[in-house]
Amino acid sequence: MSNNSSNNIEGKVVVITGASSGLGEATARHLSEQGVTVVLGARRVDRIQSLADELTSQGGKALAVATDVTDRDQVRALVDTAVQAYGRIDVMINNAGIMPRALLERLTVEDWDRTIDINIKGVLYGIAAALPYMKEQKSGHFINVSSVAGHKISPEGVVYAATKHAVRVLSEGLRQEVKPYNIRTTVISPGAVATELLDSITEPDIREGMSAWYAKTAIPADSFARAVAFAMSQPEDVDINEILFRPTGQVL
Ligand SMILES: NC(=O)c1ccc[n+]([C@@H]2O[C@H](COP(=O)([O-])OP(=O)(O)OC[C@H]3O[C@@H](n4cnc5c(N)ncnc54)[C@H](OP(=O)(O)O)[C@@H]3O)[C@@H](O)[C@H]2O)c1
Repeated sequence: MSNNSSNNIEGKVVVITGASSGLGEATARHLSEQGVTVVLGARRVDRIQSLADELTSQGGKALAVATDVTDRDQVRALVDTAVQAYGRIDVMINNAGIMPRALLERLTVEDWDRTIDINIKGVLYGIAAALPYMKEQKSGHFINVSSVAGHKISPEGVVYAATKHAVRVLSEGLRQEVKPYNIRTTVISPGAVATELLDSITEPDIREGMSAWYAKTAIPADSFARAVAFAMSQPEDVDINEILFRPTGQVL
């Protein structure tokens, strides 16, 4: 056990990819308020550094590490930094992701490549970086971010949905494989949450349409942060495997 507190959260060391905005940033703030040590990874290092500075100035423990999740060495360095600084890794949140959208017939092949590299290979690199430490510790917790699109497929969102289905497959396979090491595995599938995700849509007409729908529908990012805290806060022998949530007003 990494901590003795009653909430089972305080004192844990949590690595978060994609911590520079949206769900990752909100989670870093929420967990830090509860005494969690956060190690923040993203490409926009200015953003994660100022977040780490802010959390530290409020009495928290936080580090920022420039990380592109498509680069295995950088993801390994992110996790290694956490372990070197704080002695362990309790939770790996594989959150970084993008959501380009377009009908397949538009052949946005560069978007497909980036989506696969970030949303699937990025998660795998996170697993590769953290698993050896968690095995050694005989404890740990992976929290992988899927989506409603990991459960439902719709036109324009096919490649994204394929990657988010893959995250669920990887998480369930991981869950089964890591039983000998006392490691927990949670996959969280959010519906529409107000973040910067729509900036990753490269087709202007589609971005506009999605933005209008998000403006009506999306809920704040702390909804996700609370789901993370819920999964983390369970007693060590309770493994919350899947959380699927949507805005109350979201139909599909
Ligand atoms: N918002 C929603 O409605 C929603 C719904 C379901 C699932 N999700 C999932 O939630 C996760 C977080 O997205 P968000 O909604 O919070 O969007 P966001 O505000 O755009 O955040 C995405 C994060 O991923 C990071 N990222 C992107 N490419 C990266 C790379 N190559 N290496 C490292 N970090 C990278 C970004 O940081 P840098 O650009 O600084 O690297 C940013 O911190 C994603 O996996 C997304 O698919 C979101």
